[in-house]
Amino acid sequence: MKTLSGLFESNRQWAAKITRSDPEFFQKLVRQQSPAFLWIGCSDSRVPANVIVGLQPGELFVHRNIANLVVHSDMNCLSVIQYAVEVLKTRHIIVCGHYGCGGVRAAMESRPHGLIDNWLAHIRDIYEERRDELMLLADEDARVDRLCELNVAEQVKNAGNTTIAQEAWGRGEPLVIHGWIYRIANGLLKDLGFSVASAEELKALERGS
Ligand code: CO
Repeated sequence: MKTLSGLFESNRQWAAKITRSDPEFFQKLVRQQSPAFLWIGCSDSRVPANVIVGLQPGELFVHRNIANLVVHSDMNCLSVIQYAVEVLKTRHIIVCGHYGCGGVRAAMESRPHGLIDNWLAHIRDIYEERRDELMLLADEDARVDRLCELNVAEQVKNAGNTTIAQEAWGRGEPLVIHGWIYRIANGLLKDLGFSVASAEELKALERGS
């Protein structure tokens, strides 16, 4: 377990190491950021966005919340998407879930968890809608993992339906929204294969074709 003072010591070592390999690194970052990707992921400490894709400061714009949700009325997430797309000109939005997500598991449970149940209701809606097919799966863990995938698909659709994505596509900008999932057990990412690059592709995904 690290201590608070240990965090500052780690930070000094990290900054020194980077400066040794590239003395201009931090000065270049001060002048601009031009991340090619926006990452929308879970807050889970085991899924650190930059680390698992090997990206340095300045290369990944990040928004994380419990269970990687894109909620139409969430000003926090919407503001991040707008800034990324319209100001930073980020062309790839990656919605990344992870297997075994505690938020997804909690959404499937009938016992109350307090305030967070209001947030998890977005996942519970997906669960109720797909309950029949989920019940065909062998066990609880398989159902959680499948719901993690279904949740990513739903959040890709939600991101595509924001005014920000719709307007970017309307302007003919090359914006792609990807649905990925991460497996904590082996450290590997998987593309779930339903990226959308236009309003038409989004419609097709919503129709399930
Ligand atoms: Co999670």
